[in-house]
Amino acid sequence: VTSPRRIRIGLLGAGVVGQGILELLRDHAGTIAERLGAPIEVRHVVARDPNRVRNDLVPKALLSFDPRVILDDPEVDVVVEVVGGLEPAGTFLRSAIEGGRQVVTANKALLAERGHELITLAEAKRVDLYFEAAVAGGIPIIRVLREALASDRIVALRGIVNGTSNYVLSRMRDAGLAFPDALREAQELGFAEADPTLDVSGGDAAHKLAILATLAYGAQVHLDDVTVEGIDEVTATDVVLARRFGFAIKPLAVARKLASGALDLRVHPALVEETSVLANISGALNAVYVEGAMVGPCLLSGLGAGALPTAMSVVSDIVDVGRNLLTGARGRVPSRAFRGESLEPIQVRDPAEHRTRFYLRIQSQDRPGLLGKIAGVLGAFDVSIEQLVQEGRGGAEDAPITVVMLTHEAPEGAIRGVLRELAFLPQIVGRPKAIRIEEG
Ligand SMILES: NC(=O)c1ccc[n+]([C@@H]2O[C@H](COP(=O)([O-])OP(=O)(O)OC[C@H]3O[C@@H](n4cnc5c(N)ncnc54)[C@H](OP(=O)(O)O)[C@@H]3O)[C@@H](O)[C@H]2O)c1
Repeated sequence: VTSPRRIRIGLLGAGVVGQGILELLRDHAGTIAERLGAPIEVRHVVARDPNRVRNDLVPKALLSFDPRVILDDPEVDVVVEVVGGLEPAGTFLRSAIEGGRQVVTANKALLAERGHELITLAEAKRVDLYFEAAVAGGIPIIRVLREALASDRIVALRGIVNGTSNYVLSRMRDAGLAFPDALREAQELGFAEADPTLDVSGGDAAHKLAILATLAYGAQVHLDDVTVEGIDEVTATDVVLARRFGFAIKPLAVARKLASGALDLRVHPALVEETSVLANISGALNAVYVEGAMVGPCLLSGLGAGALPTAMSVVSDIVDVGRNLLTGARGRVPSRAFRGESLEPIQVRDPAEHRTRFYLRIQSQDRPGLLGKIAGVLGAFDVSIEQLVQEGRGGAEDAPITVVMLTHEAPEGAIRGVLRELAFLPQIVGRPKAIRIEEG
């Protein structure tokens, strides 16, 4: 194995993260070279749009618009992909790996959908595929799972892995904003994408959870295995009422291995006690709470997105891969675990069996006997009420009232039955709603 005296990279993508990488490499070249043991040299930068006006972070002499410039250059040691999306990014990565190049990517969507295939290919070609920036931007959770906790058994992962959703819910709580206003603010501040659908629908968090659960449990977790609900149906009323009961509403991602061996995989808004750790991760911050059988609870929190935090993770991956190249230690972290070969095929727990407490909110016309009817529906599904609050009496005549209940622990299947039946009561206005109450 040759030891290059410098680590030569080809950068695919010069957007938010790509420019962050160029800035970091420019400003910290000396320190990085010391820590890696060799300087990093950017050989090419490839973007898509020749007409875009670029700042001087992107050196004109290195910029081109043809990915083959990187993929066909035998002098490139590491291909860094920060283009995003499934295609053409997937083809770029395949081609880089097939050409024997080391690869670093920040692309969670691609890893969640095709990680298995890419990692299998990388192992066959004896190249490294690193992806620290793909989950929770600047938080080094991938390295913690792959290396720091390599000897532990992960009992559960609970986290907030979508900064936009966390920002929106935090602003609804702290500033009393309605969902659309909080989201607009997140967009104006640059937290949310121009199209924030993937963030608020839970899709982005599901990508990240699939990657984390795959690493934590050595089982190949697919997106379809994750129960996903977005925060887009949480209203200002829910936030206020939850608070009155001593809870914050947070965008949770949970992966747990149950005693049966099945995995519990969920992304959804949840009420968590105000005093809990995750309730206090505010604004656009992310956090992952890992519970190891040996280490116990271990919390990582920080910025899950943004040019420099994300670029930092990418560049640290380049340093790691570069060290492997310099020492000839390719394939140092076996990827078998990521491919799910070390365990039985994954078993996912039927979401209907998940037992937890629930927050139920019902809007109704104020009619005599209403509470009795509601209690009857809950009783039919064996769901018992722990607390109940009725709001809005004494308002304008025939203005709907809101009934909020916290239930004792009940299976999700029963709660779905309750919601279905409640919707049939003639007094009910709109759709009754349930939000899980979870450990935070
Ligand atoms: N932004 C974050 O905070 C963050 C955090 C964690 C992970 N990530 C991940 O990082 C990746 C990049 O995100 P980003 O925010 O930097 O995206 P971005 O700002 O949209 O940048 C994408 C870059 O890729 C280039 N590109 C797009 N299609 C291309 C093609 N067909 N061939 C060559 N270049 C192409 C674009 O070229 P033009 O400049 O010519 O348009 C642009 O430079 C994504 O996978 C994202 O999920 C981002």
